[in-house]
Amino acid sequence: MQGDAYLKCVDPQCGLEYPIENTNVQCEKGHMLDVKYKNKPSSSLKEVFYERRNSEGSIFNESGVWRFRDLLNFCQIDTENLDECSKYLVSLDGAEGRQSKPYHMSKAAEFIGISNNNLWLQPEGYNPSGSFKDNGMATAVTHAKMIGAKKIVCASTGNTSASAGMFAANEGMNCDVYIPAGQIAPGKLSQAYQFGAQIVEVDGNFDDALKQSLDDAQNHDGYTVNSINPFRIEGQKTIPFRALEYLDWESPDWIVYPGGALGNTSSCGKALMELYEWGWIKKIPRIAVINSEGASTLSDLYNGKFEGEEIRWNKGNPNTELISRYYNHLDKEGLKPKTKATAIQIGRPANILKGLRALEFTNGVATTVSDSEMLDGMSVVGLNGFDCEMASGASVVGIKKLIDEEIIKKDDIVVGILTGRQKDAMIPVDYHRNPENRFAIPPKN
Ligand code: F0G
Repeated sequence: MQGDAYLKCVDPQCGLEYPIENTNVQCEKGHMLDVKYKNKPSSSLKEVFYERRNSEGSIFNESGVWRFRDLLNFCQIDTENLDECSKYLVSLDGAEGRQSKPYHMSKAAEFIGISNNNLWLQPEGYNPSGSFKDNGMATAVTHAKMIGAKKIVCASTGNTSASAGMFAANEGMNCDVYIPAGQIAPGKLSQAYQFGAQIVEVDGNFDDALKQSLDDAQNHDGYTVNSINPFRIEGQKTIPFRALEYLDWESPDWIVYPGGALGNTSSCGKALMELYEWGWIKKIPRIAVINSEGASTLSDLYNGKFEGEEIRWNKGNPNTELISRYYNHLDKEGLKPKTKATAIQIGRPANILKGLRALEFTNGVATTVSDSEMLDGMSVVGLNGFDCEMASGASVVGIKKLIDEEIIKKDDIVVGILTGRQKDAMIPVDYHRNPENRFAIPPKN
């Protein structure tokens, strides 16, 4: 297996390659990188993954991430050898991804207007730090450990910092987190403090915090664990892996995510590209990305709402100048991303190019939903006995909107990802106190 994994620039005209120990998140021409594997994994591994659900005392079988380790084997270890695994793979005692799988939720299906059998919602909020981030943090911190990093660094709307803090504390690493001051949920901020991270408050939004954190990582020997890190993307591939495994590797018609920095979109696209290339799936599910109306960069550009051009990956030739002009326009007009769903309050999605590649490969769509719609989506999930945060509600109401527009057909099979658990206790309280809200159950006295 030695030499199987390497890094490659995503721009097909550039295609620069680097050894797996490389820590730059971009090639020297400034393009993003992918982790690539030379060997094609045999589909007989599907059986192995299934058998590992009976963990037989191995935390790497318990882990919903490392159960699929053969498909993320950038450490290039002999995957059958548990001692080898323990030397390299970073895990929260097997808890990352362990409780994540798709469920039917009848009240959500009724609200959406789809048959209960056709709708699957996959909560990622039951990860140890309370969001999908633990999937990718397990792999990013594994790479950080591989190259001997002492400090991990991130910018965050809250969940990344909670996850990074938790992993850093477990691994005895230092952790700096850059957060947009006053714009993250209190429960997320308190997690970062609790896990001993060094918080750096940035007077600005997430986009400003990311810029500052990248400078800090470069100048002070920090290892960046935001989703622009290609190793984060590897771990997040296990979100669609788990969904597909529960559907017996029969592709659904759609996989739906809330869209922020577009790490999820990118990782789902990469997972599907690989599975299709290897012949593990015959049909490519379409990805739908749901932006908030107040932070709609992808949806605006993809749907031609800016200068009339619908931006596309265009086989690796996207119109990046259009993206720059869009960002200049935001700056000039003083337009800042604004949504109560602070997790996805992002104006400059760092993974936009990989996101466009994913949408092109899957014939995907992007759309927007309002804050009040997201609150309804979040609340109807609650009525099924599941917890999720407001940004995750975007998946539910995004599916509803796309069904109402007949983009998703009523007999399509749809998997929606519920990205995180509620960490802002007052959001449901305020929602239910207002009898005008669709699912409100106001208090009595
Ligand atoms: N949902 C939740 C709950 C999130 O925390 C995030 C991103 C997203 C969706 C968007 O996912 O970036 O992959 O498109 N949160 C990041 C953070 C930015 O810092 O915690 P994406």
